[in-house]
Amino acid sequence: MKIIDKKQLAPEIVRFIVEAPQIAKKAQPGHFIILRYKENGERIPLTIADYNREKGTITLVCQGIGKSTYEINRMEVGDSFLDLLGPLGKAYPIKKLGTVVCVAGGLGVAPLYPKAKALYEAGNRIISLIGAQRKELLIMTEEMAAISAEIHFSTDDGSFGHHGFITEPLRQVLAREKVDEVVAVGPVPMMASAVKVAREFNVPVVVSLNALMVDGTGMCGGCRVTVGGETKFCCVDGPTFDGAAVDFQELLMRQRYYQEQEKEAFHRCKL
Ligand code: FES
Repeated sequence: MKIIDKKQLAPEIVRFIVEAPQIAKKAQPGHFIILRYKENGERIPLTIADYNREKGTITLVCQGIGKSTYEINRMEVGDSFLDLLGPLGKAYPIKKLGTVVCVAGGLGVAPLYPKAKALYEAGNRIISLIGAQRKELLIMTEEMAAISAEIHFSTDDGSFGHHGFITEPLRQVLAREKVDEVVAVGPVPMMASAVKVAREFNVPVVVSLNALMVDGTGMCGGCRVTVGGETKFCCVDGPTFDGAAVDFQELLMRQRYYQEQEKEAFHRCKL
């Protein structure tokens, strides 16, 4: 599980290319891995942002927003992760649908990219809408542009593209033309808003949920989410779900459950 390439994509966002031939052999869009970077290290779920079966590598994108992710981002080429478990989760089903709008917020581009690329390769027309807080946090824009018939950006502070949230360009596209599916990946409030807009236009919308996880194999129940009134486990039933059926309020509440402890651990590791 050796790191063979590392690139800083934005402040505190790092792309790693990792030797993991067995995972690369089976990886599909929508899959993720659970990473432990050291003995007794926290188990961190990361989407497989890309894979190369010939070279036996997978691509991971990590944002240093807590103790473990901050420390992972300080690992260098030649270092090895202790273990990677995967590929986990259900693969996102790729179909030829027609026009698909791919919406990403912040780090959501990393899990969105393999889906968008596979949809493009299946013959779909891709319209990409990428949002971030500010220009320097827009990542993987060239990769997304290469597979998109159209690409639009938005930033919360107006430093690049549309000034405001990405849901406004989404509303404009859906008002303008017939779209067969929306795929939205990013922070929970962004996905909830994208689902609301897509539903206004009766367009099916799928989301990729980032619930808290421990084992990643359906044993701990930590990643449970309510979808269509039923309890689902994000790690084995997802992470891709029908956005219209997801209880986003509950997901947001569960994501914040350990916020205080996470803040304290992060603060201590930076001392
Ligand atoms: Fe434990 Fe999903 S992470 S059940």
